[in-house]
Amino acid sequence: MSRTGLFDSHAHMDSEYFDEDRDQLLTFLSKELDGIINPGCDEISSRFAIELAEKYDFVYAAVGWHPENLKDIADNSYLDGLAAMAVHPKVVAIGEIGLDYYWQENEPKDVQKRRLLEQIDLAKQFDLPVIIHDRDAHGDILEIFQKEVKGVRAVFHCYSGSLEMAKELVKRGFYLSFGGTSTYKNAAKVRDVLQYVPDDLLLFETDSPYLTPVPYRGKRNHPGYTELVASNAAQVRGTTFEVLAAQTTKNVKILFNKIK
Ligand code: NI
Repeated sequence: MSRTGLFDSHAHMDSEYFDEDRDQLLTFLSKELDGIINPGCDEISSRFAIELAEKYDFVYAAVGWHPENLKDIADNSYLDGLAAMAVHPKVVAIGEIGLDYYWQENEPKDVQKRRLLEQIDLAKQFDLPVIIHDRDAHGDILEIFQKEVKGVRAVFHCYSGSLEMAKELVKRGFYLSFGGTSTYKNAAKVRDVLQYVPDDLLLFETDSPYLTPVPYRGKRNHPGYTELVASNAAQVRGTTFEVLAAQTTKNVKILFNKIK
């Protein structure tokens, strides 16, 4: 076990923000954390995530096309590329995938939905969970997971939806993951959900290099700050850091069951 016993279930260590000190940082983090899951956002970053997972025992990869990058998909052969990577022993999920209606320049909603459903199908074929990104698309995401998707395990990363939506997701056994935003002063709504989620469906993350928790908000984020997310969550949920660390690391290994 690492110093904290925590798992960062979502960090982009392949990001260029880490180009200067990636190896130094990961060597340090290998003693701090039990593990890190590095999701991919397109073909290149998915490959990079696998490279990092091959180099570091405690790093695991997910592979997928993020909704912001869908314009770069040439044709449906992108799914063959993902399938080839999905069989790697350290690829533990398909992600991050989802819907992003925030950016005007993203693909139209129907295209985003189609690519999401295709990648969920792929996850089912390989019996992998999916890591879901939902930005300003709560209604459509909920509808997809209520009506169209059956038999897939999922985590809603950096959860930002309503408490009502969280209740619907929890009812179906989906996981909710919380990061730096849950520490922000104006995030009372996120903390209401954080307080509500059952122990066995709770995950922590950083989404590094973005969304840095308080008191480092505005600076570069890194997985070591999972500790700040967990401390804050312990306070919100009225429990201890140690209890939450043990519980959430157990949850990671149940959801991402290729991690031993
Ligand atoms: Ni992310």
